[in-house]
Amino acid sequence: MFIKEVYLENFRNYKNQTIQLNENVNVFYGNNAQGKTNILEALYFGAFGRSFRTNKEGELINFEDSASKINITYEKNDRLNKLDIALNKKEKKTIKLNGIKLSRNSELVGNINIVIFSPDDIIILKQGPSLRRKFLDILISQLKPKYLHELSEFNKILEQRNNLLKSKKLETIDIWNEQFAQKAEIIYKYRKKYVQKLQEKLEEIHPELTNEKESIKIKYITRFKSKEEFLEILNQNLNLDLLRGYTSEGPQREDFEILINDKSLNLYGSQGQHRTAILALKIAEMKIIEEEVSDSPILLLDDITSELDEHRIQAIFNSVNKYQVFITCTDINLILKYDCLTKNIKLYNIDSGKIV
Ligand SMILES: Nc1ncnc2c1ncn2[C@@H]1O[C@H](COP(=O)(O)OP(=O)(O)O)[C@@H](O)[C@H]1O
Ligand SMILES: [Mg+2]
Repeated sequence: MFIKEVYLENFRNYKNQTIQLNENVNVFYGNNAQGKTNILEALYFGAFGRSFRTNKEGELINFEDSASKINITYEKNDRLNKLDIALNKKEKKTIKLNGIKLSRNSELVGNINIVIFSPDDIIILKQGPSLRRKFLDILISQLKPKYLHELSEFNKILEQRNNLLKSKKLETIDIWNEQFAQKAEIIYKYRKKYVQKLQEKLEEIHPELTNEKESIKIKYITRFKSKEEFLEILNQNLNLDLLRGYTSEGPQREDFEILINDKSLNLYGSQGQHRTAILALKIAEMKIIEEEVSDSPILLLDDITSELDEHRIQAIFNSVNKYQVFITCTDINLILKYDCLTKNIKLYNIDSGKIV
C-alpha cells in the first residue's frame, strides 16, 4: 500500500501544504525544528487517530488557529481511498473515510498500516512495561480491529472495578470480576498469539543482524491463562486491591521479556544489543503486517541516522525495498549513500513549515 497525497491545513507549523508522495522512498530533509517530523506525525495520525508524540490534540493545531485538517489519499489493494481528519480546539475530532464518518477509533485503525521507528523507541525494551504493552497492542490493533474494541471495553471494566475498590462498595464486585476475567482471557489469547508470531519472525531476522552469533526469544509474562484463573486471582487479591484502591494484576500490568542467548536483555543487555533487538522487533512487526494484510505496510523512519549505525540502517533498508518509506534527516548525504534507496527516491527540502 502507499500514500499518494497528503494535505495539511493549520497542522503544527504547516499552514496550507499539499505533498505529492513517491510510491517508494520519500526523504524529508532540512535543519532542526523545520517540520520534518510533523509530516510523519500527520501520517501516523491518519493510521491511528492519535499522535506518537502527544496525547493533547490541541497541540497539533497551528498556534494561530483553532482548527486543522489532515487529508490523506492512499492506495490499498489497488483501491484509492480518501481519509479526512478535522481537528478542532473546541470540539471532538471528526474522521471520514471515503466520505463516511467513523464513530470509533477502532473503525479507523487497520486501514492505513504503518510501522514507525523513532529515536524514542530505543527505550521500549529498557523502561517499564507500559511501552512494551503499547507496542504489542498497536501491532495487534492494526491487524484485528476487534482487539482494539475489546481492549477499550476491558479498560472501561477496569476503571469501574477500580472505582468500586476506592469507594469500598463491594455489593456488585462479583459481576465486575466476572466481566474483567472474561475480557482478560480474550486479551491474553490475542497477545499470546502475536507474541508467538513475533517469535517466529525474530528467529529469522535477529541472527542476520548479529551474524548468527546470538539467539533471541520473546516471552509473554503472565500468571494466568484462562478466565477461571483470572477469577481466582481477583478473589485472592481482593484485600490487597482494596488496600491499594486498584486492581493489582491483569492484562493492564502484564509485560513481555526479550532473552538474548537465554539471558534477560533488560537485565544484562548492552546498549548495542538493545538497539539490535528493537530493530529486529520492528522488522518483525512489518513482516507480520505484510503477511496478514497481504500488502506492504508503510514505514516511517524518524531521524534514524542519529540513533543507528550504518550496519543497522542497512539492515532496515534491506528488508523494506518494496515498501513505501518516509525518512527524515538533517544531512541528506547520510541517506543518499545507501545505493539500494536511490533507485526510486524523492527528496523534499523542509524549511519553516514549507516544502522549498
Ligand atoms: N501547534 C503548532 N503550531 C505552530 N508551530 C508548531 C506547532 N507545534 C510545533 N510547531 C513547530 O514545529 C517545529 C518542530 O517541527 P518538527 O517537525 O518536530 O521539526 P523537525 O524538522 O526537527 O523534525 C518547531 O519549530 C515548532 O515550533
Ligand atoms: Mg524531527
